[in-house]
Amino acid sequence: MTRVHPLYDLFASLPAPPDPIGLYPDYAALRDRFLAARARGDDLETEEAFLTLYCHVHGHEAPYTAEERARVDRTGGYWSHAGGVSPILRAGPHIRPDTVLGDFGAGNGLQGLLIQRLFPHRRTVQIEISSRMVEAGRALEGWLGIPPGRVEWVVGDVLDHSPAGMDFVYLYRPVRPTGEGRAFYEAFAREVGRGVDEVVVFSIADCLRDFLPPEFEVFYTDGHLTCFRGAGKQDS
Ligand SMILES: C[S@@+](CC[C@H](N)C(=O)[O-])C[C@H]1O[C@@H](n2cnc3c(N)ncnc32)[C@H](O)[C@@H]1O
Repeated sequence: MTRVHPLYDLFASLPAPPDPIGLYPDYAALRDRFLAARARGDDLETEEAFLTLYCHVHGHEAPYTAEERARVDRTGGYWSHAGGVSPILRAGPHIRPDTVLGDFGAGNGLQGLLIQRLFPHRRTVQIEISSRMVEAGRALEGWLGIPPGRVEWVVGDVLDHSPAGMDFVYLYRPVRPTGEGRAFYEAFAREVGRGVDEVVVFSIADCLRDFLPPEFEVFYTDGHLTCFRGAGKQDS
């Protein structure tokens, strides 16, 4: 319970988020429910109400153009499921002020934005195929009071992007590890840790384990979130 408190305090202090694409129609009602449960001191109800509010701001359904949807269909990616608050809170000890963090399949970037807000770091790179979700995410930066220049938004296919130069990578099964998607995990495993001293990977519904070199250590897993640590590699 107590681990969720930084996010409780944050969400209780924030006004309604800017909503350029109509993603959060129930925000006011869900926030009121969360605040009322918290005021009553009912821990279980507060947690449930908070998670519902968080999932609402995350967005359940990403809007895609026909072309974006065809790409997601071809690579068997997950739609907009929320990774949850556990990876956000667990990220803290692995984030330093000079960390470059990447989220491969970021949706509106809520995960990376909340990590940036709670644990400020050099750069958060948000890679997402839905251009409308990226538009929604850009608007959340100011809402969360994130200083300009900290977040880089990339509208694109994860298959075209590398984790090289990133010290912390977060991903929630953006593509299926078969067919075209398999190439993503193979390339990711080759590139991860390149150009950094050490890399930590948080993977939800993990598909990476079978691709990463054996030197990567799993230091946490609960069936939902799997956390890896690996030595970086410098180009000679
Ligand atoms: C399961 S959601 C994860 C959202 C967020 N990272 C989280 O953990 O809460 C997967 C995201 O990957 C995106 N996605 C699916 N296929 C993709 C692709 N080929 N390239 C980039 N993003 C993709 C989806 O649009 C969706 O936003």
